[in-house]
Amino acid sequence: MVKKIFIGVAWPYANGSLHLGHIAGCYLPADIFARYNRLIGNDVLMVSGSDEHGTPITITADKEHTTPQAIVDHYHKEHTDNMKKLGISFDLFTRTTTTNHETIVQEIFLILYQKNYIHRKSIDALYCPTCARFLPDRYVEGTCPYCQKEGARGDQCDNCGKLLDTFELLKVKCKVCGGTPVKQKTEHLFVALSAFESKLINWLEGKKYWKANVLKFTNNWLQNGLHDRAITRDISWGIKVPVFGFEQKRIYVWFDAVIGYLSASKEWSKLQKEPAKWQEWWRDSNANHYYFLAKDNIPFHSIIWPSILMGYDETLNLPYNIPANEYLTLKGEQFSKSRGVGIWVPELLKRFDSDVIRYYLSINMPENKDADWTWNDFVSKNNDELLGTYGNFIHRVITFTSKNFGAIPKAATLTEIDKEALHNIHDTHREVGEALTQCAFKKGLRTVMNLAQYGNVYFDHTQPWILLKTDIERCKTVLHISLKLVQALAVYMSPYLPFSSERVWEMLGHTDPIKHWDDAIRELHHGTPLQTPTLLFKKLELTDIVTTTDPFSKLDLRVAKILEVSDHPKADKLYIMQVDLGPLGKRTIVAGMKPYYKKQELAGKSIVMVTNLKPAVIRGVESKGMLLAATDADHVVSLLDPGNSSPGAEVGIDGIAREPVPVLEFEAFTQAPMTIDAKGQAIYNGKPLKIKETTVITDRAVKEGAKVS
Ligand code: MF3
Ligand code: ZN
Repeated sequence: MVKKIFIGVAWPYANGSLHLGHIAGCYLPADIFARYNRLIGNDVLMVSGSDEHGTPITITADKEHTTPQAIVDHYHKEHTDNMKKLGISFDLFTRTTTTNHETIVQEIFLILYQKNYIHRKSIDALYCPTCARFLPDRYVEGTCPYCQKEGARGDQCDNCGKLLDTFELLKVKCKVCGGTPVKQKTEHLFVALSAFESKLINWLEGKKYWKANVLKFTNNWLQNGLHDRAITRDISWGIKVPVFGFEQKRIYVWFDAVIGYLSASKEWSKLQKEPAKWQEWWRDSNANHYYFLAKDNIPFHSIIWPSILMGYDETLNLPYNIPANEYLTLKGEQFSKSRGVGIWVPELLKRFDSDVIRYYLSINMPENKDADWTWNDFVSKNNDELLGTYGNFIHRVITFTSKNFGAIPKAATLTEIDKEALHNIHDTHREVGEALTQCAFKKGLRTVMNLAQYGNVYFDHTQPWILLKTDIERCKTVLHISLKLVQALAVYMSPYLPFSSERVWEMLGHTDPIKHWDDAIRELHHGTPLQTPTLLFKKLELTDIVTTTDPFSKLDLRVAKILEVSDHPKADKLYIMQVDLGPLGKRTIVAGMKPYYKKQELAGKSIVMVTNLKPAVIRGVESKGMLLAATDADHVVSLLDPGNSSPGAEVGIDGIAREPVPVLEFEAFTQAPMTIDAKGQAIYNGKPLKIKETTVITDRAVKEGAKVS
């Protein structure tokens, strides 16, 4: 029976590029699931879009000195393009700033308000008198009361990780103007989640089949009791609150975003010119709703969104399953834009085919535990498995048959091994189908790979290249069966590797695309001409990957402390300095600082140094590294100032992985030009250099535009 499958995928914020954590966490599994369901004839509606409201967007806009609109326009375009290139087959990928979405959010808000699920409450909040505005959590910073670290946000301390209440922060400051905010009453609207508590518990009773982590996160929330949640904010970017007296406030971004699933379904229907069609997924009891998202989004989908739906319209379908993944990590750390840990999708798409990325993310998917992305493993899985096992089998079969017969040969009597091959095709059909139905994506892919592996064994064992000379009929039969294996593999792989599967399919002489799961077990028509085989995958070298990363990532920049300074005996502009690099030890460097600094000004000073620069002998003295100084248009030369950070501290940039090469050529150093901006901060590609991710590096003695070298 044809089922209606609704697939909602978490809406990415439009404030930065997608990273691999996003793809492995939800977009790829959702897409594999959607593609499989379409193949077995289910009616799939898969939607998502850019999450464009809230403080995540305004903070990015402030930081980049632009408007929220400019930020969301830029990243929505980028997200849309990336999703398409990755083959994520959304029926609609929209955005939360459409009029359609706004209207539906306001309608739902108003209905919940009229049904008394939303009520007013006056609360204390921080108000900045200078900016004349209330400050949302992320707009205040202060000293963490637990670890005493400065620069903790209003909702969380990044240093010790504690969740904070804004009023706990010590020495609070307004992030915008630096002024001191004051406590002031403000009125907000709250949704009474407790009103849905017993209904939620009943509904969750039937969800024993959910993943353990999803149940755990959900039950944790329930156990603490459901509290009223503020769903308005004192900001000006967002959807207006449709309640009298609240015109100046905006709806909380999470309340607005989850409604996107419904508003996008309606938008899609309108685009289909069948405006009521969304109801087939939202009201039909034969429709199942799946939500794909990362772990930290679970309660919003298992508690908040169902509560909104229950309160708004009892006839709408609730989630059927929420197969959330764990995290993809990079060297054990969670991907994070704000901490600069990540591999960014736009960069990656410039370097690799989508199927290559999809393969590694699928075989290494963080389904039940975190999975680590390593370049080494990426290269070896590509070379050994995707190319070595799967690509190799297809290539052998198609090139050999094409060269010797040009078309699909006719099979004669089947032997035991041929029957075994056909059996394996059928078993794989069932097993992969079961795995995909259960969202066990890794298991499904391993099963497909086993069939590819078997294909190689079959081919090696039957030796068609010998049969070609000894028994042509048998040779044809073996190739016919091999081609059947290829055909099956193309279909089973197609949810995972849609682009290359389609090419394999074409090579078999099919003129229509893969449409059904059962296409895998179709009869092959002998005599059908094969298409010219082309290589599906390329061998990767680890060294290629390393050389194509951002030039900045190769630099090993560190804080150093100058211990001693002496004149270079053979040069009148050079000093010889002893510097301390903390854990890296002490070194000698030679630097042309004599015209600009007195010896006593330098001794004891902290500087920034390139430690991995190829050592150079300068007038007879070996210099192991180079200090960084800035020179401006007026020829003022000044050393970069890392504040009082400790010697050896790493210097880096958000968004660029720190992967220093052992020996950096001077030429490679010049590939990463740094400058000083208007605020005196040292920047590369528009982003400030940081020490241990918090402190910026400054040089206030030179003019804006000063070049760092
Ligand atoms: N933008 C949120 C995040 O990146 C996810 C929103 S999911 C939605 O964490 F359903 F609410 F849209
Ligand atoms: Zn202020």
